[in-house]
Amino acid sequence: QAQPGPQASAFAPSNIALCKYWGKRDKALNLPINPSLSVSLGQLGSRTELSPIDGAEDRVILNGEVQSLEGGFAAKVVSFLDLFRQPGSPRLQVDTHNNIPTAAGLASSASGFAALMLAVDKLYNFGLSPEQLSAFARLGSGSASRSIFEGFVEWQMGVRDDGMDSHARPLAQSWPNFRIGLLTLTSAAKSVGSRAGMQRTVDTAHLYQSWPLQAAADLERIHQAIEQQDFELLGATAEQNALSMHATMIASWPPLLYWQPESVAAMQQVWALREQGLPLYFTMDAGPNLKLLFQGQDQQAVLKAFPSLQVVAPFEAA
Ligand code: PMV
Repeated sequence: QAQPGPQASAFAPSNIALCKYWGKRDKALNLPINPSLSVSLGQLGSRTELSPIDGAEDRVILNGEVQSLEGGFAAKVVSFLDLFRQPGSPRLQVDTHNNIPTAAGLASSASGFAALMLAVDKLYNFGLSPEQLSAFARLGSGSASRSIFEGFVEWQMGVRDDGMDSHARPLAQSWPNFRIGLLTLTSAAKSVGSRAGMQRTVDTAHLYQSWPLQAAADLERIHQAIEQQDFELLGATAEQNALSMHATMIASWPPLLYWQPESVAAMQQVWALREQGLPLYFTMDAGPNLKLLFQGQDQQAVLKAFPSLQVVAPFEAA
């Protein structure tokens, strides 16, 4: 039985998928139906500190606030910790800070579970490999498997039943010019979470049957775009991939539409700017906000159109 050390702390970046993960072949193990590819957000993410405490229960603190263990994030954290310890072992305090603007609708579960996994590995001195850390982080949230790494990251589906080959790996290529803009449009409307949303899509949307083929083709194109540093191929593929994923969501029953009027207006603005010659693309996850994709030389023009944009340069040293 592993005994915890005095305390451990770790950071993991948030990530944005260019080829999305949507749909599980195993719900308990978070095994995906398709491979995905993301870019990590550098300094934006979660820092988690773990320390053993006296008492019968864990204590989960998120951005300075003690969380109820009854449901939501804290309940997921406790069941995640239980995977790595014996019932009688000391309870833990989990203190997590996200420096991700919460209103931007960026899921903090990816960076949160990746940081937690890294901290668990340190606290118990497990000495897990990066691949093992990624496969275990996946059990907290699928996209957390990718947040173990920096830069471009691919999460391979794997074929094993135990999921230990379903982990992410970093790509060698860097792209210093690459920019992601976080566009906060609305903090309105608490939406259906990705877990429930994926299940509904897989269970009810006939259109979903085309998704694995779309994702496989897009993954190949994104690899090619990164290899050739072909920004327009990358942007176009990522945008079409996101819209294809949303098409399967909309074709679910009851319908799953994450878009708000502001989302559609922003998409049309991106298309209008592209029409005028600006190489600007977007991607979207399970929420109403857009993430813009562009290159450093176009940052001024993009900021002029979207003054509130928060720009991230994932490949530039801080
Ligand atoms: O792993 P989850 O539950 O955070 O699901 C992520 C789903 C999307 O954000 C929509 C796509 C992705 O690959 O990140």
